[in-house]
Amino acid sequence: MLGGKRILLIIGGGIAAYKTLELIRRLRERGAAVTPVMTAAASQFVTPMSVSALAGEAVHRELFDLTSEAEMGHIQLSRVADLVLVCPATADLMAKMAQGLAGDLASTLLLATDTPVMVVPAMNVRMWDHPATQRNLATLRGDGVTVLGPDSGDMACGEYGPGRLVEVPQILAALETALSDGPLKGRRVLVTSGPTHEPIDPVRYIANRSSGAQGTAIAAALRDLGAEVVFITGPAEVARPSGVEVIEVQSAIEMRAAVMGALPVDAGVFAAAVADWRVENAGGSKIKKIAGQMPTLCFTENPDILAEVSNLPEGRPELVVGFAAETDDVVAHATDKRLRKGCDWIVANDVSPATGIMGGPENAIVLISDSGAETWPRMGKSDVARQLAERIAARLGAQ
Ligand code: CTP
Repeated sequence: MLGGKRILLIIGGGIAAYKTLELIRRLRERGAAVTPVMTAAASQFVTPMSVSALAGEAVHRELFDLTSEAEMGHIQLSRVADLVLVCPATADLMAKMAQGLAGDLASTLLLATDTPVMVVPAMNVRMWDHPATQRNLATLRGDGVTVLGPDSGDMACGEYGPGRLVEVPQILAALETALSDGPLKGRRVLVTSGPTHEPIDPVRYIANRSSGAQGTAIAAALRDLGAEVVFITGPAEVARPSGVEVIEVQSAIEMRAAVMGALPVDAGVFAAAVADWRVENAGGSKIKKIAGQMPTLCFTENPDILAEVSNLPEGRPELVVGFAAETDDVVAHATDKRLRKGCDWIVANDVSPATGIMGGPENAIVLISDSGAETWPRMGKSDVARQLAERIAARLGAQ
């Protein structure tokens, strides 16, 4: 799907820039053309010679370059591509983009372009966590920029946490999606998935048995139909889907914040098994065992994210899909839940242990909407996901 596509690759100045050499090779292997642009800092990390040799094209570096300007002006350069990819996107480049600065060639191209922009951030964990970067991130998302990553893990600077460039195969999958022409192309969808962990103290938590398998399959199916997917997951067992924006959270409170931060979206699929309660008196230090004395945990209700999004006075997604895991009277309970929460559809399933559905590979659902209850045959979770994604595409297409 990348064959015949042209990508304007803006390489920022960070240690992860070396990974763009591999990325360029893989893009060209798939038949894509790469027009490379490097910031001044980027050429401290990889040489323009290597980039140009792999891309098979000259590297553009200067805003005021008479030769380049005579051959192709920078405005035109920003528009010839099918997609502008900023990789690695440094904190500095993201700040420039968010502010609309145009002091060098890279930022000028980003301000002048009218093609989709995807940024792949990579930076030190503290720089990523800094409120300024998080503000800029929110601005970029609001401007319609797709943000991929970063991953968490060991970093070249010796620290640990979010800030690593996502791996090349994941960037390729995201590009395939962004450049595909599926029925959900141009649509932004959020999916919540997995359990939440509600802390009791710094080392203990309350959780549930959700594996995250169904939510993950739904995110992948929506991606395959061309949607830009924001996947907000609690600490789930299954691997994260590739080619989507992954936001990892622990608690219901964190999940709510991530969901609100990901809006606006065209559709929201709330597959997460969010804990209904959290411990109000969760300790900042570990609760010590005292012989004969039981600790008292006081519970308080968690925000109902699905109900909150369903009832947003402004910016409600066109389609809100909730889930209902029930053990008896599935249709009656789920029908009531749809009305109570205000969502458009409820995907209901029977999670009694005898069904083997929770944590298992299959699912048997009843889709409840304003036109009634539709019972689907038992099938693999990825088949449920594919059919549900097709229904979502049909519904959004019909709006
Ligand atoms: N949900 C949510 N936020 C919560 C609780 C649930 O967004 N705090 C969402 C789930 O992701 C799911 C739906 O609401 O889409 C159903 O959740 P469930 O816990 O089954 O519903 P409840 O209202 O808690 O009903 P009950 O516990 O009686 O089954």
